[in-house]
Amino acid sequence: MTNPTVPPNRPVRVVQVGAGGMGRTWLRTLAADPDVELVGLVDLDEATARRAADEEGHAGVPVATAYDRLAVEPPDVLLNVTVPGAHHAVSSAALRAGMTVLSEKPLAPTVAEGLSLAAASEVAGRLLVVSQSRRYFRHLAALRRQLAELGPVASLGCAFFRAPHFGGFREEMEQPLLVDMAIHQLDLARDLAGSEPVSVYCESHNPAWSWFAGDASAEVVVAFASGARFTFSGSWCAPGLETSWNGRWRVGAEGGSAVWDGDGVPVAERLDGTPVPAVVGEEPEETAGALAELVAALRHGGVPSGEVHANVMSLAVVEAAVLSARDGRRVQLAEVLEAAYATALADERDAAVRERLRSWSPVHDVVGRPA
Ligand SMILES: NC(=O)c1ccc[n+]([C@@H]2O[C@H](COP(=O)([O-])OP(=O)(O)OC[C@H]3O[C@@H](n4cnc5c(N)ncnc54)[C@H](O)[C@@H]3O)[C@@H](O)[C@H]2O)c1
Repeated sequence: MTNPTVPPNRPVRVVQVGAGGMGRTWLRTLAADPDVELVGLVDLDEATARRAADEEGHAGVPVATAYDRLAVEPPDVLLNVTVPGAHHAVSSAALRAGMTVLSEKPLAPTVAEGLSLAAASEVAGRLLVVSQSRRYFRHLAALRRQLAELGPVASLGCAFFRAPHFGGFREEMEQPLLVDMAIHQLDLARDLAGSEPVSVYCESHNPAWSWFAGDASAEVVVAFASGARFTFSGSWCAPGLETSWNGRWRVGAEGGSAVWDGDGVPVAERLDGTPVPAVVGEEPEETAGALAELVAALRHGGVPSGEVHANVMSLAVVEAAVLSARDGRRVQLAEVLEAAYATALADERDAAVRERLRSWSPVHDVVGRPA
């Protein structure tokens, strides 16, 4: 991948697309980082963009209803904070125009569209990175350091129980918990396991008192290539004794175990009962963490952990869980990837991207973490 290196004597120039709820979070993150400069803000609703820019620290920044209506110098980065259904169109247009892309999760609504974006990133020679903001917490970084001392991981568990009343699209989705929330924990399990998933079994259900139309609860078992297992047990309809938004974690490794409530300082113990102290650093957290990782890659090289080829596996685990819940069977990741690859090839309209997809053989060799 050939990446432009932004010289050290100027900030990284960013155009943001999407000025809704999460768009405002990103505007605050950009305003707080002197290493980046917002040069334009786009939203289908121009008044929404104007208001968000003015209220979140970017008064006077040009706004428009589409990127090509913004009269600005080409930016280094397009930050995609649109709704998931617009992610593929916005990210692929930006890659074609030669920009690096930082996208909100999910990469795209389907694995097939995710594969198309991975190929588009290759054709453009530009990075496409997904911000999985729940990978960036200081206490999580401390947990990673503890696990590094405990050796190979065998079992990971996450209990996630909350009772949010969002209103809006989440209450109408078929699989709100799996698609909108569990992608964070499934993504984090890949990271902590240090291995890629091979199969998924899932049962989803909806409590009788649920205020969601789709299934608000799910039990998921993921098997990894290393042999490790991840069990996720979660609900968005679980009032009382709620867990943190990251969920409550337990990790079992060869040399001991670790627990993290998803919020405070993690606790780890070696098999002889001695504690592994938590070393808490000062890393930037959440969206600021994802942004800092991308800026470092643009300035010095390197590949952020949310790079599209790696991230598409998190989308694939979610798709496998949804399929498993629907069909009542264990689903192999290879099956999901092969079906998505066939769909991507059939649906791709950009000839260069289609040729690039065709050159992948097999698809499993190009996705997931770098070997
Ligand atoms: N990481 C997290 O914890 C987290 C939390 C919330 C949302 N998100 C993600 O952030 C993204 C945005 O979510 P949100 O809650 O801000 O949604 P939202 O509906 O509040 O805002 C989306 C905005 O994008 C605009 N938009 C849609 N299509 C567009 C297009 N083609 N061009 C320009 N603008 C367009 C809409 O007009 C709207 O203002 C989603 O992908 C969501 O999953 C992530």
